[in-house]
Amino acid sequence: MTKLICNSCSKVYSADDPVWRCNCGGILDIKFTPQIDIENIKSKFSGMWKYRDSIPIDNDNSIISFQEGLTPLLEIETEGGRLFVKQDHLFPTGSYKDRGASVLISKVKELGITKVVEDSSGNAGASVAAYCAKAGIECDIYVPESTSEGKLAQIELYGAKLHKIPGSRENTAEAVMDAAEKNYYASHSWNPWFFQGTKTYAYEVCEQLGWIPPDIVILPAGNGTLFLGAYIGFKELMDAGIIETIPKMIAIQTENCAPLYKSYTNKLIEPSIIQSVSDTLAEGIAIAKPVRGTQILKAVEQTNGEILAVTENEIKTSLYSMMKQGYYIEPTSAAVIAGAVNYQKKYREDIMNKTLVTVFTGHGLKGTDKLLKINKSEK
Ligand SMILES: Cc1ncc(COP(=O)(O)O)c(C=O)c1O
Ligand SMILES: [Zn+2]
Repeated sequence: MTKLICNSCSKVYSADDPVWRCNCGGILDIKFTPQIDIENIKSKFSGMWKYRDSIPIDNDNSIISFQEGLTPLLEIETEGGRLFVKQDHLFPTGSYKDRGASVLISKVKELGITKVVEDSSGNAGASVAAYCAKAGIECDIYVPESTSEGKLAQIELYGAKLHKIPGSRENTAEAVMDAAEKNYYASHSWNPWFFQGTKTYAYEVCEQLGWIPPDIVILPAGNGTLFLGAYIGFKELMDAGIIETIPKMIAIQTENCAPLYKSYTNKLIEPSIIQSVSDTLAEGIAIAKPVRGTQILKAVEQTNGEILAVTENEIKTSLYSMMKQGYYIEPTSAAVIAGAVNYQKKYREDIMNKTLVTVFTGHGLKGTDKLLKINKSEK
């Protein structure tokens, strides 16, 4: 039976309970053991929903899907060598957040909720807005004023009510909290159902590699929604005896906002307090107070992984390098590639025969305004 369990006080909630956080203020996780039979994965659903048996939505009629997922896993060349990249910028709204939004909004529908609120740097907001549009659910999305124009346009045109909040990403997170007292909070960081969608990244990667897990997985860590989802997915596959080990999980932050990197280097188990956040090209990972920061640090430790932080110059170099190979990605995605390159260079000898997998998280078309600015300043 699927249950929600509090990470702080261990209180248990039913999966039918419309809660996004524990009464004690703690984060909730979903307790669910999927029965995975890889011989029988051929389901009537396409895309990421082919793993339907591993996604704890009760009723097929609740599923809100654009048949998203099963993105290509392409091998590319970087300055550090070769590695596989999951093309998650090719999702319907242009980012991997659709994995989480599809499952979360399906659950919202199943719970009979008619209005949600969400805050985001833009991509998660656009995703939630699109899936709510398909489900006929009202939604209010809070974003920083500085969000890329393409993301703002998407949110409004999908029919959501857009709230542009002055100041930092943290100001936006604070602004939504009032609304979250009165409405269901479809938060990609707080709400545990989101991670039941992002975990399909791990299922897809393993299946695309013939059910042999990669040795190393390199993913972004702002709030870590893909990172933690992937960890859940790999763990479920290992617990089901389908893969033997969980890959080393490497989390990438930007030097200009690196609360997890700081803790990792200082061997701390909680995210560090950041005194000031500098501007960064990687708007998607500029998260000063990651709600699930302790869980991210734990997953890094448990997989013998690592956290790296990249500079603005490294982000630009990777952005141009990917663009010149024909991949139109947003700067936050380039930050992840920059981290992967740093990892490849650091462990050049050790990773010669290893399989490395990373991701393109977001499509460049959503951030063309910012990409043009970067290009202008380089000339
Ligand atoms: C394009 C892109 N990449 C990476 C991330 C980082 O995701 P997370 O905060 O879940 O770690 C985001 C988050 O908004 C994003 O929009
Ligand atoms: Zn609790």
